Amino acid sequence: PSILPLVLVCLIGFAAHKEHAGLITHTAALDLLCRIVHQYDLLFKRLAADLLALLARREEVIAELLAMNGLGRLVGQLPSGDPALTQSLLRVVCYLASDSAALTEIYQTGTIPVLLSLIASALKDWPSPGSNPALTSSKVIDMQLVCTALTRIAEDNELAYNIRQCNGITLLGKLLLLPGTSHGPQTDSGDKASAEMASLRAYAFRALRFLFSMERNRKVFKRLFPPDLFAAFIDLGHYNASLGAYSSLVMRLGDLSDKQRSALAAALDDVSADREGAEVVRTVRGGQYALIEMLGKGGYGAVWKAR
Ligand SMILES: *[C@@H]1O[C@H](CO)[C@@H](O)[C@H](O)[C@H]1NC(C)=O
Repeated sequence: PSILPLVLVCLIGFAAHKEHAGLITHTAALDLLCRIVHQYDLLFKRLAADLLALLARREEVIAELLAMNGLGRLVGQLPSGDPALTQSLLRVVCYLASDSAALTEIYQTGTIPVLLSLIASALKDWPSPGSNPALTSSKVIDMQLVCTALTRIAEDNELAYNIRQCNGITLLGKLLLLPGTSHGPQTDSGDKASAEMASLRAYAFRALRFLFSMERNRKVFKRLFPPDLFAAFIDLGHYNASLGAYSSLVMRLGDLSDKQRSALAAALDDVSADREGAEVVRTVRGGQYALIEMLGKGGYGAVWKAR
């Protein structure tokens, strides 16, 4: 156990080098890394996930991970509560999500509800403006990664619908309303923080716009945004991946009055309440859990929202 962390650190060094990285992408090595992330103690998990995040930049690694059903083991660790581990794993998920071969597995492993639960918990305890900037930065990066993964996933029509069913539109919309728009004190760190928040809003807008590109999701967006903002949102066109294109929406968002912002918040809650099938379906484990809604289903089983 005292040697393994050192070995992992060495491998991380190798993985950063193009020529060496190919040597540690064998199936057995990747399988071992997935196992470490899945079963070992936190220190090992972090290092192995860090290494996987470096390796997953390579297409052949993505193919290997998919072939060995690695995603399920990784996704299960996402809500670990450890920022470093979550961030590395989110990077792996982003790389995987850009491969269309991964879409089935994303559905089957319940990746979508897990990603959305990360947004829900970030919204719940978002650091108040003025608290430790490093903490806020790390949350912003997590949410940017979640938005990126969801954007890529939303290119698939079925999965875009699944994201909506899992309350994705409301959760992504709430990211737009996080505090930090108002221009804080004129300090370098204040500027940096508001630039970070602006960039996060662009990521959230991009994910929402991709969801809107799918026809079946479109009617939900009616009456969500004020007319001017909505017109600009539509004008961006479908599946525009360029993040910079969304900065005009972020500026318009910043110009909204308090009343318009509250209206947006209320409309987002309505979207959440309107989702079909929110009644209790049945109980399991001797009545311990009430299944409320099926979030996703596949060859391995189904993921339910439960109470
Ligand atoms: C994305 O939007 C920007 C700004 O509206 C535009 O200049 C660019 O051509 C668009 N890109 C694509 C691929 O549609």
